[in-house]
Amino acid sequence: MSTPLLFQEISLREVKARNRIVVSPMCQYSAKDGQVGDWHLAHLGKFALGGAGIVFVEATAVERRGRITHGDTGIWDDAQIAGLRRVAEFLKSQGAVPAIQLAHAGRKASMARPWYGNGPLTQADLARGDKPWSIVAPTDKPVGEGWIAPRRLQAGDLQHLKESYRQAARRAHAAGFEILELHAAHGYLLHSFLSPLSNEGSLESRMQFPLEVVREVRNAWPARKPMFVRVSSIDDVEGGWTIEDSIAFAKELKAIGVDVIDCSSGGILGSATAATRVLLPRVPGFQLPFAERIRKEAGVMTMAVGLILTAQQAEEALAAGRADLIAVGREALWDPNWPLHAAAALGADPGFERWPVQYGWWLVRREALLKKIGFQR
Ligand SMILES: Cc1cc2nc3c(=O)[nH]c(=O)nc-3n(C[C@H](O)[C@H](O)[C@H](O)COP(=O)(O)O)c2cc1C
Repeated sequence: MSTPLLFQEISLREVKARNRIVVSPMCQYSAKDGQVGDWHLAHLGKFALGGAGIVFVEATAVERRGRITHGDTGIWDDAQIAGLRRVAEFLKSQGAVPAIQLAHAGRKASMARPWYGNGPLTQADLARGDKPWSIVAPTDKPVGEGWIAPRRLQAGDLQHLKESYRQAARRAHAAGFEILELHAAHGYLLHSFLSPLSNEGSLESRMQFPLEVVREVRNAWPARKPMFVRVSSIDDVEGGWTIEDSIAFAKELKAIGVDVIDCSSGGILGSATAATRVLLPRVPGFQLPFAERIRKEAGVMTMAVGLILTAQQAEEALAAGRADLIAVGREALWDPNWPLHAAAALGADPGFERWPVQYGWWLVRREALLKKIGFQR
């Protein structure tokens, strides 16, 4: 039997991933002053043990005020490299490609951790010691009612920001990451430049600063290493950013040397993961049509994400040419061994050879025993 597409190796520039499964960046809100710690090592490490091809470190702030919450990871200081390197080295030692998402929360910075409200900081957060800070955006309009009003960025600020992204890319390389993704989705800084709901001017002028950042980072990031950009393919709000805009943006990104467009959606006026107040129905693979259109119409590799739940669903998406990579987020929280279980479901690992040898050696023998006693999973 030939290897399913999901488990075929993929080469991205000079980086090779053992399969096409990516663990999507997922904020843990558990860093201290931006420093990753044991939680991040264990959390991300288990996805590498679970067989993912690429494992992403969560949205990591390029400057202190660009954190979503006090618990976000950061990469604004050389002192943050060592903790990140420990994670990157462990992921690599377990056969996964270490990847990191660089982010700036813009006008969605200075928020409460999700389990304390997933919105602006409240009196209760203040009592916990989480104080608000001043935030920036291309507009002085807040995300919505009750949100902090940002200070509108000036020309001098933009130069400083580009420098922060450049330095962050240098640190990501120094920490041993092999894939860098720029977060330009979910209503955060770069997305807020793109969307007509949070910035003024033509599509071209709204794209200008994000493209300048992409160029800066592409130049600072080694040519042998791939770069991804995550977009909100649509704002999913009337009068907002459209899939046609994303296709135009993706063409520009490709021309600069971006290798993969990571196709998410939403977030400009609230949460990107909440299933309320959105028009796009949350069905399995609901964002796949965006990955497909951007791939076909901009001629660039895409990563699909969003309620991709089963191995069959992922395999079919690849076989139909809808995406090049499959990202799983919450399903990986539910089952960190999702890639290994997907391999079993697709008949791609009868000998448990994809498992860490410490587990596989036992499981392959137990499988024979389970068969003998008639156990059905
Ligand atoms: C706990 C959690 C944290 C997240 N943090 C990030 C993040 O840091 N950056 C990002 O681009 N998306 C983030 N997301 C969105 C996911 O990467 C993913 O796009 C989304 O959950 C949809 O995929 P899923 O249905 O497989 O979970 C987060 C989602 C969750 C559940």
